[in-house]
Amino acid sequence: MKGALDLEKLPKHLAIIMDGNGRWAAEKGKNRLFGHKNGIQSVRAIVEESARLGIQHLTLYAFSTENWQRPKEEIGTLMRLLVQSLRSEFEKLLENNIKLQAIGQIETLPRSVQNELLHVINKTAINTNMTLTLALSYGAREEIVSATKKLSELVKNNLISPDDIDESALNEHLYTQQLPDVDLLIRTSGEQRISNFLLWQIAYAELYFTDVFWPDFREKSLHSALLNYQQRERRFGKTSAQINA
Ligand code: FPP
Repeated sequence: MKGALDLEKLPKHLAIIMDGNGRWAAEKGKNRLFGHKNGIQSVRAIVEESARLGIQHLTLYAFSTENWQRPKEEIGTLMRLLVQSLRSEFEKLLENNIKLQAIGQIETLPRSVQNELLHVINKTAINTNMTLTLALSYGAREEIVSATKKLSELVKNNLISPDDIDESALNEHLYTQQLPDVDLLIRTSGEQRISNFLLWQIAYAELYFTDVFWPDFREKSLHSALLNYQQRERRFGKTSAQINA
């Protein structure tokens, strides 16, 4: 796509469903591990480029609640790669002033992953350039159910009344309470579905699907997605005339 990126019109919150590692590897006659390893190179490239451009919040779907159904060896490999990446990328996060966060049922992850995550989260907590949120053992329906339970407890204990429950109250009990709504959601690899990712937060997001497999999704592909986003008119339910007024 032609044209220059307008750095004043970047999505504040970019979310990505990184898909296609396995198919990318299969096309090359390699195993899935090879795909995931190359997927990590894309994670690095996209995190750095997003921070460089000035995107404030980047959220990556790294492991869904449904991914626990994959073969045990693949889950083990993904968890090991995650620990290794957190270790090897830690310095870069500091250098780029990036704050790491995690959303999902973090307590269900292996201890080694939890420890490494907590370490990096604590050490980057004061960083201000960009928030990088990893969705791990994450499912949006579970997130909404869990927020509903927390609100129910508050009502049960007479701390709030049912009338206090509105969109902002529910929002405050989601894992993403510190994040603004998603502006742009990208999914790679040609699949056009949401797969239980940030269902509440994408209510008004622009959706962008590309056939590029995640290990091939690098800076150029990100620029194309952002350019496409910048050509859209976001109306939030209003008319075009109202938006232009
Ligand atoms: C989708 O490809 C990718 C995943 C399920 C895992 C994504 C994880 C990484 C890129 C590595 C770890 C992440 C971080 C943040 C360091 P797929 O396996 O579903 O591919 P397929 O649909 O072609 O089989």
